[in-house]
Amino acid sequence: MCTRPHPIAKIAHRLFLESNLGDPGLFLGSLRLEREVIRKLAAFLNGEGSVGFLVSGGTEANLMALLAARNMKNIGSPEVVLPESAHFSFTKICGLLGLKPVYAGLDDSYRVDGASVEKCLTSKTVAMVGTAGTAELGAVDPISKLSEIAVKNEIYLHVDAALGGLIIPFLEPSDGSGLAFDFQLKGVKSVTVDPHKMGMTTLPAGGILFRNNTYIDSIKTETPYLTERHQHTIVGTRTGAAAAATWAVFETLGREGLQKITRQCIKLTRLIATKLEAFGYGLVVQPTLNIVAFRSSNSSLLHKKLLQRGWFVSYVPRLDCVRIVIMPHTKKNHVHAFLRDLRDVDR
Ligand SMILES: Cc1ncc(COP(=O)(O)O)c(C=O)c1O
Repeated sequence: MCTRPHPIAKIAHRLFLESNLGDPGLFLGSLRLEREVIRKLAAFLNGEGSVGFLVSGGTEANLMALLAARNMKNIGSPEVVLPESAHFSFTKICGLLGLKPVYAGLDDSYRVDGASVEKCLTSKTVAMVGTAGTAELGAVDPISKLSEIAVKNEIYLHVDAALGGLIIPFLEPSDGSGLAFDFQLKGVKSVTVDPHKMGMTTLPAGGILFRNNTYIDSIKTETPYLTERHQHTIVGTRTGAAAAATWAVFETLGREGLQKITRQCIKLTRLIATKLEAFGYGLVVQPTLNIVAFRSSNSSLLHKKLLQRGWFVSYVPRLDCVRIVIMPHTKKNHVHAFLRDLRDVDR
């Protein structure tokens, strides 16, 4: 899910190699860039007034969100309701935070089922999670429905939009309709959005945004000797280079540039999906974002053959399918070359 960084990202990154946002008072320029990046992400996510940080990736971002939710509720034997399709980072997070995962079922489109989520809620629930762009299929959970449930039951709702957060805001209106997933929904308290995925920046640049300051108070740690009295991130030392690189990409491309790149990825995704169906392959689901998953008579073997040809596609055992993520470095000629190789290896 990563892509070749934009050339401006590489230049900016190199200029900030020594910058450490773990001690931001010493790197005020980097701090300003991080804040501006967060402001831009907030604007994409309808989150005027939200606060956040650039962290090591979606895993750390999700960890910070659930840490906040757990600390705010502060009860014994806490539980979190996760879609069955939640990213595997939540398995690690539950272990680290002592949270019991309670899994809600999916509908036919691999989106979490609202009724199932409601059934999973107990007096021990400290948070619910929805995904806007699952890692395996790019499915977008019905976050509006989750938000209603969250508001009604006064439960913290975190949205993992590590992938979709920098896609959904830029879709054609007709493609994006019904995919509301961000702070415009009252129940959403935090959102993960990773510039190091569709944002074409250098690693490591994950993003976590919280609705407002209230949600970060519970995760602050006092610092005995640094320039700022408190730190909110899990890691201490963290690079300012990725903040500079992300800032440079956002400045260079603007919303229009990100929109153009996203729409091109979606167009190519549709092209692959149409051709695969024409070849007789079954799609696991019609793509919503930039992921196509399909099955052949032996998907695991097909995956191995494609890897041997140099195609970095993946195999998803639990769905027994080959999965292709169409990232910004993918061009139309790659798609045609892939389809030729596919026919060749799967005769
Ligand atoms: C939906 C989702 N959440 C979380 C993550 C974890 O992100 P990272 O690998 O940057 O920690 C990923 C990674 O692909 C993802 O797709």
